[in-house]
Amino acid sequence: MGRLQDRVAIITGGASGIGAAAARLFVAEGAKVVIGDINDTAGEPIATELGDACVYAHVDHRSRDDNEAAVALAVERFGRLDILYNNAGIGSGGRFENISDDQLEQIISVNLTGPFRMTQAALPALRDSASSLEGGAAIVYTSSLQGISARPYLTPYTATKHGVIGLMKGLSLELASENIRVNAVCPVSTDTAMVRGFMSEDWTQAQKDESVAKSGQSIPLGRVAQPIDIANAALFLASADAGMITGTSLPVDGGMTAGIQDTAARRASRG
Ligand SMILES: NC(=O)c1ccc[n+]([C@@H]2O[C@H](COP(=O)([O-])OP(=O)(O)OC[C@H]3O[C@@H](n4cnc5c(N)ncnc54)[C@H](O)[C@@H]3O)[C@@H](O)[C@H]2O)c1
Repeated sequence: MGRLQDRVAIITGGASGIGAAAARLFVAEGAKVVIGDINDTAGEPIATELGDACVYAHVDHRSRDDNEAAVALAVERFGRLDILYNNAGIGSGGRFENISDDQLEQIISVNLTGPFRMTQAALPALRDSASSLEGGAAIVYTSSLQGISARPYLTPYTATKHGVIGLMKGLSLELASENIRVNAVCPVSTDTAMVRGFMSEDWTQAQKDESVAKSGQSIPLGRVAQPIDIANAALFLASADAGMITGTSLPVDGGMTAGIQDTAARRASRG
């Protein structure tokens, strides 16, 4: 018996990285999954790989029509909707004064408006299943460590991911009495296409691997996260194991938010 046995989930951004890991994990734990993404070339093969338990839908989560079609597909194909994992997102950064209107519009619409609209589309179906579900229906957002702290030159991204935490918290209180739990995972740097997309196109694979490994050195556990690390946290929050948890931002950060980091300089100063 899997931890999501016979539950039906929509995962946005399921064609790549964290969302793809979650789709594979949720199916392995007994769920039926609708993958929603704009990258059909990457998403369709994952659904094929996962067989009858998974279906792919072209979903730009900024589009109300796409979101409603994804929910209708979940209900038509699998009979219900129990879990919404709002995971799709993009990165964006640069010096604050250089952020263009287009860049700002794009990151707000993908990282904040999209999850907002997808949640609105899914709520009627989640309500239909919530009262009969042990642990309740579940909404999970992928925010970020930048949703609970900040770093320079990622301010547009940081603003949207803080916004996702506000969305999650407000909604958790609005929906608690209906047995719908709402939470967020907050990943540290995770080795996905998004992170590697920030690297120079001229770099070799080995240079990119080296850069990923190097950035892991500033994380207390000594490595960046892998997509499965984040998927495991989303699985927990989506499952009945988290039946008393709502309104929470769960850092999956290798210790980054625990306090002040021990650094080589500090170690040297201790002798
Ligand atoms: N990788 C990291 O270091 C990291 C850290 C913290 C949070 N996150 C968050 O994790 C989530 C997943 O990112 P990832 O790292 O797996 O990156 P990724 O690029 O591998 O996957 C993101 C997916 O979202 C899809 N997507 C983009 N715009 C979309 C839209 N408008 N509608 C539907 N799908 C869309 C992409 O096609 C892609 O498949 C994002 O919300 C991201 O902000 C990532």
